[in-house]
Amino acid sequence: MKKIAVVNGPNLNLLGQREKDIYGTVSLEEIRRSLEKTFQHACRLAFFQSNSEGELVGYIQGLSGGVDGIVINAGAYTHTSVAIRDALLAVGVPFVEVHLSNIFAREEFRHRSTLADKALGIICGFGPAGYGMAVEGLLGVLAD
Ligand code: DQA
Repeated sequence: MKKIAVVNGPNLNLLGQREKDIYGTVSLEEIRRSLEKTFQHACRLAFFQSNSEGELVGYIQGLSGGVDGIVINAGAYTHTSVAIRDALLAVGVPFVEVHLSNIFAREEFRHRSTLADKALGIICGFGPAGYGMAVEGLLGVLAD
């Protein structure tokens, strides 16, 4: 069975409480449970969240050789982090960039991503459902 890591960056631990008008009322734990239920027969999922760039880099490095693909919502680090980009490239498996909100319909500084040009695809604006779409998209490509 394929293994996919779902990696979450800063402030996503506050989903369901933070800026509900933008990010909704579903918590990260609820997203995790829903993904695990939906994909229980399709793949193995590893789930991780950290507010620290260094921890995210360390976690991603540790995935090397152990996963077939990565789904990442790097939160605000999406717009700033060369280190997370480099860690993803070092692991060398396809990754999908996810955002709950449509980052292109928001402030200009959110339009830029350090990950996007290396991603297999980007899903944004569909709220929590985007995570499932990303896993499905990855599985479709990995099956080929
Ligand atoms: C986000 C969008 C980012 O710009 C923001 O910093 C986040 C969440 C999203 O899921 O919509 O923390 O990645």
